Amino acid sequence: MSESKDTIDKKNANSMWGGRFSEGPGAVMQEINASIGFDQKMFREDIWGSRAHAAMLAACDIISAGDRDAIIEGLGQVEAEIERGEMTWDPAMEDIHMHIEARLREIVGGAAARLHTARSRNDQVATDFRLWCRGKLDALDGSLKILQGALISQAEKHAVTVMPGFTHLQTAQPVTLGHHLMAYYEMFHRDRGRLADCRARMNECPLGSAALAGTSFPIDRHMTASAMFFDRPTANSLDAVSDRDFALEFLSAISIAGIHLSRIADEIVLWATTPFGFLTLSDKFSTGSSIMPQKRNPDAAELVRAKVGRFVGALNSLLMTMKGLPLAYSKDMQEDKEPVFAAVHDFELCLAAMTGMIDDLKPNAEAMKAAAGGGYSTATDLADWLVRVLGMAFRDAHHVTGEIVKLAEEGGVQLQDLALADMQKIEPRITDLVFSVLSVDASVASRTAFGGTAPDNVKAAVAVAKENLQ
Ligand code: ARG
Repeated sequence: MSESKDTIDKKNANSMWGGRFSEGPGAVMQEINASIGFDQKMFREDIWGSRAHAAMLAACDIISAGDRDAIIEGLGQVEAEIERGEMTWDPAMEDIHMHIEARLREIVGGAAARLHTARSRNDQVATDFRLWCRGKLDALDGSLKILQGALISQAEKHAVTVMPGFTHLQTAQPVTLGHHLMAYYEMFHRDRGRLADCRARMNECPLGSAALAGTSFPIDRHMTASAMFFDRPTANSLDAVSDRDFALEFLSAISIAGIHLSRIADEIVLWATTPFGFLTLSDKFSTGSSIMPQKRNPDAAELVRAKVGRFVGALNSLLMTMKGLPLAYSKDMQEDKEPVFAAVHDFELCLAAMTGMIDDLKPNAEAMKAAAGGGYSTATDLADWLVRVLGMAFRDAHHVTGEIVKLAEEGGVQLQDLALADMQKIEPRITDLVFSVLSVDASVASRTAFGGTAPDNVKAAVAVAKENLQ
């Protein structure tokens, strides 16, 4: 039998309708419209929301207790089927909400059709997505805490390990490795604070806002909210179905934490280079070269450094999606999930990799100490001594120290190797007591004011941090 003229015309109307779109516009629409390919991740949250909704509808006498029980039992079966990988995902059925409801209907029949009373997919998806983000946020907070734990134990081991501190990546003043690692502990502490703030704002329940205007059914939104451990229901139905700033805030917290990860990753890359030689990379987190047998490449650190681009990309993508959208729901908002899913996945991976790298950190204390003594890193200590012991003004002491550094440069020696007589040519009141501040160990040990790098401070900071992590 030959094809009807109608079919041929449809096929020829647009050369796009070949290959996977051979069925014509319907196939294109299905492909662009369906979210099941990614929103199936939220099946547990969707089922949780439906259970809470059914229980509330029955408590408010909107559905019968019998229907509620059938729905809740049926949802249990749907969940188990999805867990076992038995659900057939069909793009024709668009999204996770439709799939679960349709399967529920096959299992329990008529009762399932009453579940969608006083709700819409708009408040449903907003609820599911908040639940998903909240769950991941809690998990990520736990992973950040583990990373902090790894930093603390290395900081404790290296409270007295001296290394150069840099500004402009030029040797500036000696610091302790423990102090340097604790700097990252502080950053991740604030990152966790940002997540906690985000969680507090996120934790309101949109369910029952229905399509946009709320519902005429006498529902109890407080009941559904507390069933899902939300602090309260959202206060405005239009806002509830339109808002995605919880996801934007989550992505921005991840982006900022990602920037912190990228900085420590970069330092691992730098410190592991041959000229630096501060670290030996662990085999677990580096690779060899296919051509250069001596190479050990810091791939994991480099990839952590790179991933932040994706976090910020995800944030930008969702910011642009939301920009200028009129209230209330628009299908644009279906594009909210993929950037968040991807960023969360990558961020989890980065945290695991970074924790592993910190756990395995093998610092070369000798190389660090030798480098710490270079670049006249104790010049500030000399200037401070001139102020403290000779009563000079800091600006004058700075000038005198500059002259002394010049002398050392000319002689090709470190400050502590200069002869006292040479220093006295520049400032006659200098005594040999000055040598007590010129070593890197003396330098770090002297920085005892709160927040400074002295080993005792590092030990105290570690103790406080340990307590915070309890
Ligand atoms: N899959 C949709 C989403 O993720 C669910 C909401 C659909 N609502 C609608 N009115 N088309 O946003």
